[in-house]
Amino acid sequence: MSKLFSGCFGKCAGADRKTRPKKIASKQRSIQRLSFSDVSNSGVFSPEDLSISLVGSNLYVFTIAELQAVTQGFSMSNFIGEGGFGPVYKGYVDEKVKPGLKAQPVAVKLLDLDGVQGHKEWLAEVIFLGQLRHPHLVKLIGYCYEDEHRLLVYEYMQRGSLEKHLFKKYFATLPWLTRLKIALGAAKGLAFLHEAEQPVIFRDFKTSNILLDSVYEAKLSDFGLAKDGPEGDETHISTRVMGTHGYAAPEYIMTGHLTAKSDVYSYGVVLLEILTGRRAVDKTRPTREQNLVEWARPSLNNSQKLARLMDPSLDGQYSTKAAQKAATVAYQCLSHNPKSRPQMSAVVEALEPLLGFDDIPPGPFVYTAPQMDDKENENSSVNKSDSVKGNRNRSLSRSRDENGSGKSKNGSGKRNSENGSVHRNN
Ligand SMILES: Nc1ncnc2c1ncn2[C@@H]1O[C@H](COP(=O)(O)OP(=O)(O)OP(=O)(O)O)[C@@H](O)[C@H]1O
Ligand SMILES: [Mg+2]
Repeated sequence: MSKLFSGCFGKCAGADRKTRPKKIASKQRSIQRLSFSDVSNSGVFSPEDLSISLVGSNLYVFTIAELQAVTQGFSMSNFIGEGGFGPVYKGYVDEKVKPGLKAQPVAVKLLDLDGVQGHKEWLAEVIFLGQLRHPHLVKLIGYCYEDEHRLLVYEYMQRGSLEKHLFKKYFATLPWLTRLKIALGAAKGLAFLHEAEQPVIFRDFKTSNILLDSVYEAKLSDFGLAKDGPEGDETHISTRVMGTHGYAAPEYIMTGHLTAKSDVYSYGVVLLEILTGRRAVDKTRPTREQNLVEWARPSLNNSQKLARLMDPSLDGQYSTKAAQKAATVAYQCLSHNPKSRPQMSAVVEALEPLLGFDDIPPGPFVYTAPQMDDKENENSSVNKSDSVKGNRNRSLSRSRDENGSGKSKNGSGKRNSENGSVHRNN
């Protein structure tokens, strides 16, 4: 999906903060987070300055040699995928790499020096993720800042991105309750950012930036475009319009005015993708269906029309009541008027109870033979007690592939574990 790099509205660089008549008293700050604007406006920050500024954030500072060793020389067998920042490799760290470092798999993201992103996006990631900790934000373990090298080391997210699970043919269909769990987790991550003492606007909320751990807990990644939110009396920040086509709020595209409500719109787009199994923009579809929001929003408040929008690969196995309520949330998030969009905490409150709706029609039992090369799924030929009619969609926290049906999108019945499947992300 193409990135937006259109005009510059007002003064760029986020320094132009508009204020409204004095109404809200400035919040009292207790422990100040180091703000990204302060760092990026303060000129060149040496590696030493950065590590001193981030003392207390528990980030490890790696050398390029250490990360080369961790990823077996950035070998193709460790390659996970590639985005705008550069390639990502799987690696393994332990105390031998750095004293005190927990033994764990990691994802190492390497800045492509010829790419469109650069030091600024890398720094944003280090400043934001280095200081923000939450169960629904991916954990930054450390970074490398050596000569021209800029790398990021994250906790490894075993199931990869939501984008792959929703849209790549060789991934099994995500069951309804797993979709809800992911939507809720991602909403909690955004609510945390928006409601922090020093709010953060994520600005690039989309399915490829929602990563999933082994039990499908959603965590937000990629703070390269994130911005410190407006403070005190300010209503918005003015900035160059950046983000991804299909996800950016209309008023943000038109004016460059960025608020937390721009993220709420993007959240609405993702929720719609989760419900329909369709991409925000899909040029392969008939013209009137290419833009998901334009096509789907008018039908979201009508239960009969909604049934026709729902992802066919769910095979009708979802709670109609919960789907209707989730569709109403999406409808509100996609309001043209930003003020009519809910706060993310209200979205969390609306979605949370939907996990308890059990009017999910039973599905057929499908047996899948275990795959010998899939360590995680070893001995996990579908457990009949999980898969018999009516139960197969219910479990939310099994540590193995919870698509207990083993049903794949292409109907072959084969499962494809993300673990070890190395391919280029296009
Ligand atoms: N912490 C992680 N654990 C496991 N896989 C990861 C991790 N971070 C990124 N990946 C994977 O690496 C690939 C590239 O991710 P990256 O975030 O760089 O790009 P993207 O999200 O695909 O595109 P964009 O540049 O638009 O954000 C994706 O397949 C993603 O799922
Ligand atoms: Mg990403």
